[in-house]
Amino acid sequence: MALFAWSDDLSVGNTFIDEDHKKLVAMVNSFHDAMDQGRGSEVIGKVLRNLVIYTQEHFGREEAEMQRISYPRYSVHKAEHDKLIREVTALQSGFAKGNTMLSVKISIFLRDWLLNHIKQTDQLLAAALN
Ligand SMILES: [Fe+2]
Repeated sequence: MALFAWSDDLSVGNTFIDEDHKKLVAMVNSFHDAMDQGRGSEVIGKVLRNLVIYTQEHFGREEAEMQRISYPRYSVHKAEHDKLIREVTALQSGFAKGNTMLSVKISIFLRDWLLNHIKQTDQLLAAALN
């Protein structure tokens, strides 16, 4: 069963950001499903790597938009992105070292982070972009 789902109340009213977020939700769910289905740590690790790569690409797109409009909250927003990447990378390397119990923690952490970040930080960015 999916860990969480996209719903319209997650929309920030900006098409590119919403589409990226839908894909992120789907990828966090794929990661969660892979461990739910008892996939091997190699498969789970690969799904996680793709998720981290996509997250970085998405952050890059948001940051480029912030710079384009000289967004005043740029540094605060970017700091949240950077912190997430640091934390996930640390969890990811623990997982890669064989601590597979971390996978549950990672999926819940990503879900909660995404929901919070979308509803607060990205909402403000989308309002500035629109
Ligand atoms: Fe963001």
